Amino acid sequence: MAQQVSVEDPTTQSNYLKIATENVFLQWTVDFNKECIFGSATHTLVAREEVSEVIFDTYALKIEGVEVEDKPAANYHLGDEHEVMGSALRVPLGKEIRAGDKAKVKITYRTTDRCPALQWLAKEQTQGKTFPFLFSQCQPIYARGIAPLQGKLPTPLRRKASVTSVLPVLLSAKRKSPPSDGPAHGGKVIGIDEVTYEYDQAEPIPSYLLAIAAGNLRYRAFSVPEGKTWTSGVWTEPELLEKAHYEFCDDTPRYLSAAENLAGPYKFGVYDLLILPPSFPYGGMENPCISFITPTLITGDRSLTDVVIHELTHSWFGNGVTHAHASHFWLNEGWTTYIERVLLELIISPAHRGLSYIGGYKALVDALKLFEDSPKYQRLVIGFETGEDPDSAYSRVPYDKGANFILHLERTLGGLDVFLPYVREYVKTYMGHSITTTQWKDHLYSYFSKQTDKIKALDSVNWDAWLYGEGIKLPVEMEYDLTLATAANDLADRWHKSRDLNVSKLDFKSEDIDQLDGKQQAVFLERLESYAALPSSHLIHFDELYKFSQTENSELRMRFYLVILKDPASPAAKQYVEQVADWIIGKDSGVIQGRMKFCRPAFRAVNAVDPEKAVAAFKSARTAFHPIAQKLIEKDLGLSGELRKA
Ligand code: BES
Ligand code: ZN
Repeated sequence: MAQQVSVEDPTTQSNYLKIATENVFLQWTVDFNKECIFGSATHTLVAREEVSEVIFDTYALKIEGVEVEDKPAANYHLGDEHEVMGSALRVPLGKEIRAGDKAKVKITYRTTDRCPALQWLAKEQTQGKTFPFLFSQCQPIYARGIAPLQGKLPTPLRRKASVTSVLPVLLSAKRKSPPSDGPAHGGKVIGIDEVTYEYDQAEPIPSYLLAIAAGNLRYRAFSVPEGKTWTSGVWTEPELLEKAHYEFCDDTPRYLSAAENLAGPYKFGVYDLLILPPSFPYGGMENPCISFITPTLITGDRSLTDVVIHELTHSWFGNGVTHAHASHFWLNEGWTTYIERVLLELIISPAHRGLSYIGGYKALVDALKLFEDSPKYQRLVIGFETGEDPDSAYSRVPYDKGANFILHLERTLGGLDVFLPYVREYVKTYMGHSITTTQWKDHLYSYFSKQTDKIKALDSVNWDAWLYGEGIKLPVEMEYDLTLATAANDLADRWHKSRDLNVSKLDFKSEDIDQLDGKQQAVFLERLESYAALPSSHLIHFDELYKFSQTENSELRMRFYLVILKDPASPAAKQYVEQVADWIIGKDSGVIQGRMKFCRPAFRAVNAVDPEKAVAAFKSARTAFHPIAQKLIEKDLGLSGELRKA
C-alpha cells in the first residue's frame, strides 16, 4: 500500500504505549454553584515495557494532588498547555516497573470554566426553567477536560464512577444505584438533597465515550421484545417526556433487535436515549448505554428516527470495534452509516436505503468542495500530524465516502448475502478492540482467502484511490435506488426549468410537496440548492407556497435557507438574511439551533451575505452554544478564538 498511517495516536502526549490504564475509578461531585466537577480519578495501569513515570492528558484541569500507590506524590509536573492536546501531567512512579507490572495513581482535581467538554446551562436555558443542566461532549478528544486520561488507548478501558449531585445524574455506563426505574433522585428532594449515583462500565470502552449529564431528568421505559437481555427507554426533562417517548418508543427496540440479528448480541445491557437541550452540538452521540440525542428529532411524526438507528449501530461499530485513533475515524462512521442504511433496507425498503445514500452523496460533495484548500481532509484515511485538531477535519467525508466504499465492496463481492456473514465475523473478531484500517483490510482478505473469485474481486478494488484519494469525485461512480428520489428530483427540476418564466406564469401549487415525505422534501431542497440560484421573485413565491421558512423541522428549514441565501448578492438573500440569523440564535423562539449540522452552514451562509450581521448575531448569543460549537463557529466566521480568550 502506498501510504502508511502510523498506529500512534497523533492527539495525545501520554505515554500509553509504555504504560496504559486498564481501569479507572471516578469519584466526582457536581457543583452547580461553582459550575465545576471536582473529585478524583484513580487509575490502575499496566506497564507494557520498563517505565518509571506515567503521563496523562489533561485540558484546563486544576490538579490538586497526586497519590502513587496510596502515598502522596509531590513531584508531579503539569506541562505547558498545547492548544489542541492540552497539558501533559507527568507522574513519576518512584521506581522503575517492568512489563506486566501494575501501578495505581490517584489524581485529585477540579474542572475549570475553560473545559471544552462541558456545557453548564442556566435554568432559563432548560425546558422546565427551574433547575440548571450539565452535559458533556467528549468525542473526539475532550474527555481530558473532565478527567486526566490517556489519549486513545490501544486497549479500551473499564471504568466505575460514583457521582454526587443535587440533580439526577446520567453516565455512559450501567447504573447500580439508585435504580433508574425507581423514584427520581432516589426519592430525595431534587435540587436540594445530595444523592450519590453509582455507575459501572464493565465493557472496555475508549475514553472519548466518557459522558455525563445532570439535570431535572426523568425516565420512561420502552417495551422491549420478549427474551431480550437489555432494557431500553428515554430520559429527558419531565416537560418533554411524553413527546420523546412517543417519538422513539417503537423504532428504538425494533432497530436494536434488527441490529442484533445482523451484528450479534447487544452487550451493554441498557440502551437508553437522553434528549438534551437545544444547544447539544450533534444530532446524536453514541455514549455507551445512553445515546445523547438532539431535541430537533422530536417532530411528532417519527420522521427523524434514523439518527437513533445510526447511534445504536455504533454499539457494534465504534463502541464495540473501535478505531485506533483519529486517522482511522472512518472505520467508526463509515461502517455505522453503511449498516444504518442496510437496516433501513431490511426494515423499511431498499428504496429508503437508496434515498439515504442520495442525501448523503450531496452532503459528501459539499464537504469535499469545502475542503478544496485542504485536500488531505478529502481523504478517507487522514494522516494527522501530532497535535493537529481532529475537529478541523470533521465532515461528511468519513461517513459518506466510507459508506460508499463499503457499499462498493459489498457489491463487488456479490451483494448482501455474501457480505453480511463477513460483517458478523468482522465484529466478532475485533469486539472490544481498537483497530487500524490495515487491520480491517487484512481481516477482510483473510476472511475470503479460500475463495479465489472473491480475492480476485478484492484485488480489482482501487484501494489507494478509496483510502487516500483526494478531489471531489468518488473512485467509482455509484448507482442508488432512485424510487423515492425521483419525485423529489422532478419537482426540483421543474423549478429549475421555470427560471426564465415570469412569476405570474409559474404553475406550482402548495400541494406539490404533500406527495413527498420529510426525507424526500430534504432531497428536493438539496437538489434545488445544487442548481444556480433561482430569481429572487421565484424564491419568494416558493416560500409563499411551501412555507419552509415556518417549519419547525430544522432539517428542512436549514436547507430552505441555504436555497434562499445561495446567491449572497440577490434581493431574496438580503430580504431573508436577518430571519436566518434570528432563527439560528433563537431570537424570537428562545430556541437556538445548537446542532452544528444546522448552525454552522447557516452561519456561513449569513456570513457570505452580511458578515457584520453574522458576527453580531453570534456575539449576542455566543454562550448559549456549547464550547465546541463556539470554537468551530468562530473558525467559520474568521474570529479564531479571540472572543473566548477575552
Ligand atoms: N459520533 C458521532 C458524533 C461525533 C463525531 C461527535 C465526531 C464528535 C466528533 C455521531 O455518531 C454522529 O455521527 N452523529 C451524527 C448523526 C447522523 C450521522 C445520523 C450527527 O450528529 O449529525
Ligand atoms: Zn456516528
